[in-house]
Amino acid sequence: MTTARNALPGTARAQLKRVIADAAKCTRCPLYANATQTVFGEGMPGAHIMLVGEQPGDKEDIAGRPFVGPAGKLLDRALVDAGIAREDTYVTNAVKHFKNEPRGKRRIHKKPNMAEIEQCRWWLEHEIRIVKPTLLVALGSTAARTLLGREARVQKERGRVETGADGLPVFITIHPSALVRIEDDAQRHAEYRRFVADMKAVRRWRMKTAA
Ligand code: URA
Ligand code: SF4
Repeated sequence: MTTARNALPGTARAQLKRVIADAAKCTRCPLYANATQTVFGEGMPGAHIMLVGEQPGDKEDIAGRPFVGPAGKLLDRALVDAGIAREDTYVTNAVKHFKNEPRGKRRIHKKPNMAEIEQCRWWLEHEIRIVKPTLLVALGSTAARTLLGREARVQKERGRVETGADGLPVFITIHPSALVRIEDDAQRHAEYRRFVADMKAVRRWRMKTAA
């Protein structure tokens, strides 16, 4: 795909490949030690919409790919239901290693701390520089804090587009894993519809701002 914003997609792809290889060896924070592998973002340079989650989960850590577990499946479905094309998106996380604590046979998800998020921003900034999205989508509070450079109350601020720390617009919404955890079917369906409505707003923004 050749666009005016990204006249040399081949070069950008090569740059991205190099960054992915570097990130595979990253030891900028302690999280690499307790995870299987670096889980980098996925998508093509020139994708208009960059979706940013928190960190890989158990499934992502094993697969080496972002958003392939339950939250990812829900996100995929919401993007389809909102009419957002896959090639329009680049999907990544604020933190690239799975932070976890072994508990018996399971590994329990732990929230990354400020220092870890700050160290891993290095990679996110490379992704933003190379992919050149026109809109960033913060999925949940960790991504919102990373992209906005301030604390965010995602339930209160969801649906808003704010200017991010690096000057790009940031659409704020919840994390899809919050939906996976809702046990009541009716409530989960209602919240899913709200999430799809957010993704439709993302689509409208993308149509408005980019050809
Ligand atoms: N949750 C995230 O934030 N990212 C993933 O890749 C998977 C689950
Ligand atoms: Fe590097 Fe990020 Fe992994 Fe920390 S979490 S080791 S900064 S890739």
